[in-house]
Amino acid sequence: QPDQTHPDDVYSMVIVSNRLPVDYDEQPDGTPGWKTSPGGLVTALEPIMRAADGAWVGWAGVADREFAPFENDGISIVPVPLSEDEIQEYYEGFSNDTLWPLYHDVIAPPTYHREWWDAYVRVNRRFAEAAARAADEGATVWVQDYQLQLVPKMLRETRPDLVIGFFNHIPFPAYGIYSQLPWRRQVIEGLLGADVIGFQRQADAGNFQRAVRRLYGYTTRGAVVEVPEGDDVRRVIARHFPISIDAEGFEQLARRPDVQARAKEIREGLGNPKTVMLGVDRLDYTKGIRHRLKAFGELLRDGRLSVSDASLVQVASPSRERVETYRQLRDEIELTVGRLNGDYSTISHQAIAYLHHGYPREEMAALYLAADVMLVTALRDGMNLVAKEYVASRFDEDGVLVLSEFAGAADELRQSVLVNPHDIEGLKDAMVAAAEMPRKERARRMRALRRRVRDYDVARWSADFLETLTGNATIRPGVRDD
Ligand code: F6P
Repeated sequence: QPDQTHPDDVYSMVIVSNRLPVDYDEQPDGTPGWKTSPGGLVTALEPIMRAADGAWVGWAGVADREFAPFENDGISIVPVPLSEDEIQEYYEGFSNDTLWPLYHDVIAPPTYHREWWDAYVRVNRRFAEAAARAADEGATVWVQDYQLQLVPKMLRETRPDLVIGFFNHIPFPAYGIYSQLPWRRQVIEGLLGADVIGFQRQADAGNFQRAVRRLYGYTTRGAVVEVPEGDDVRRVIARHFPISIDAEGFEQLARRPDVQARAKEIREGLGNPKTVMLGVDRLDYTKGIRHRLKAFGELLRDGRLSVSDASLVQVASPSRERVETYRQLRDEIELTVGRLNGDYSTISHQAIAYLHHGYPREEMAALYLAADVMLVTALRDGMNLVAKEYVASRFDEDGVLVLSEFAGAADELRQSVLVNPHDIEGLKDAMVAAAEMPRKERARRMRALRRRVRDYDVARWSADFLETLTGNATIRPGVRDD
């Protein structure tokens, strides 16, 4: 049973995200429990929150359950309840069937429903109220991601004393795409309630600024958006802060003898092929898993790879399983994997080891160490922390990262083998080149990649964001005159 904290406790630092770092996980016999929740957001923010004396406001991942605030692993958790209808309309609907496909360049068609929008507004208000209750006078509230874009404005209206940051973990699309959104003005207005709006890539910040100019006509100067407020102008900073990982933590994990032994065991379990290729993704249509499987299948078909010298491990962690596009994707991927294994596997060598599970960090580090080639072939991705985790784990300066230019990580990880995953021939050539790359070149590239990931880790990312936030908030009207 977790330690309860007092519902009236207030904090100087509050993180607000759709999902808490832990999901409620009840055993079949009714025993309550909590497990780490999926996705890059939690991976990135957990270490920061453990260091700060802050509270984390978010949803516990189950319907119609109210939980009192509690402490988990050094973090104060403030759960926000969602009803079954709200999960369907706000989370599965507006967040993941409207905004998600729209912001990922309409890879899947977005659905627009007015009822979903109403639920989005209602739930954003509930999160804003919970955050306002948890925030001390003058506190910093850092709102995360596309599910909560209206929270900054709602917070500013009720709590002008707060310093408000927002970080968008996913891409922000070009105006030609964004402008489809029937509520495009309200979303921009919601975001502009923040003092600083962070994006993954420079291009995302540029797209946002263009949307502000087109929809509101506000002036933008460099990273600053000038938001008229009465006779005054409020400065909002909108710029990129590429998110990262706890690089040191991953390296430490990978150096552990038990993790290295596990990596060896994984390779043996696969029949010790010459090349182990690895894909690790949430099972999401943005990740380019189909393209990767197609390329791998054709390489086997054409005899450029054979199952005795190359094996693909595909970890696809379950995600948003009640959203139709995700169900269809799972069926397609499992059909493809089944076909390829049927066509090319032998008794001693399986073409594809497909794992529909999430794994703890130790197992991930072992998989990274076991993989000669890491395949990140996203069609569109805010950042992709898997790419950075792979690099951080490879203290042996070996392994090749094949990375999509459509993932945010491509801006920083220039020494990877960059690919356009839509170009199947190009992807196939890159996979073969990665498998055949000489040791010296692998080491040269990996050294450069590691330098970047170590230098700009998640602590730097959050420090950078929070310093910019404090800096900007002190010169805003009202605060400046105090
Ligand atoms: O950043 C992408 C993101 O949607 C995060 O907000 C979230 O934590 C993660 O992916 C997993 O998605 P979900 O919470 O929908 O399972």
